[in-house]
Amino acid sequence: MLAEKYGDRIEAAFAKYPDKRSAVMPLLYIAQEEYGWVSPEAIEEVAGLCEMDPTQVKSIAGFYTMYSEKPKGKYWLHVCTDLPCALKGADEFYQELKDYLGVDEGGTTEDGMFTVEHVMCLAACDKAPMLQCNFHYVENLDMEKIKQKIDEWRAAAKKDE
Ligand code: FES
Repeated sequence: MLAEKYGDRIEAAFAKYPDKRSAVMPLLYIAQEEYGWVSPEAIEEVAGLCEMDPTQVKSIAGFYTMYSEKPKGKYWLHVCTDLPCALKGADEFYQELKDYLGVDEGGTTEDGMFTVEHVMCLAACDKAPMLQCNFHYVENLDMEKIKQKIDEWRAAAKKDE
């Protein structure tokens, strides 16, 4: 349950706003971090915490692309393939990454570790190829560097088990 595990973070989010419902987006992030996606149960839980109707919470989760209403891998990789990055090899990098992980666009590796999607500009065009891993930027990539990062992320996931 989010309230037990993330009580401090939830209270800190509530403290920033005049009412609980205004903290719905930070709480959706916490739910996604915990469950890997914004499941129907997570929506109910966030709605309860924010004293909102679950339908309202679902409409917010559905509107913003940074929330996923489908299960994702532990690491959600957003590769920018927009034009400035494409000019620096992002399309080729993205294809090689998918091949390396054995997934198609939007796919998740068999071990449930990585989901890979391409996205529009992330405002780091000068550091292409680049991606976000769970919304943290990883820049100036090539296949050698991303393979190293993938090994690090897998090792970190094992530690969490
Ligand atoms: S085009 Fe890729 S970060 Fe801007």
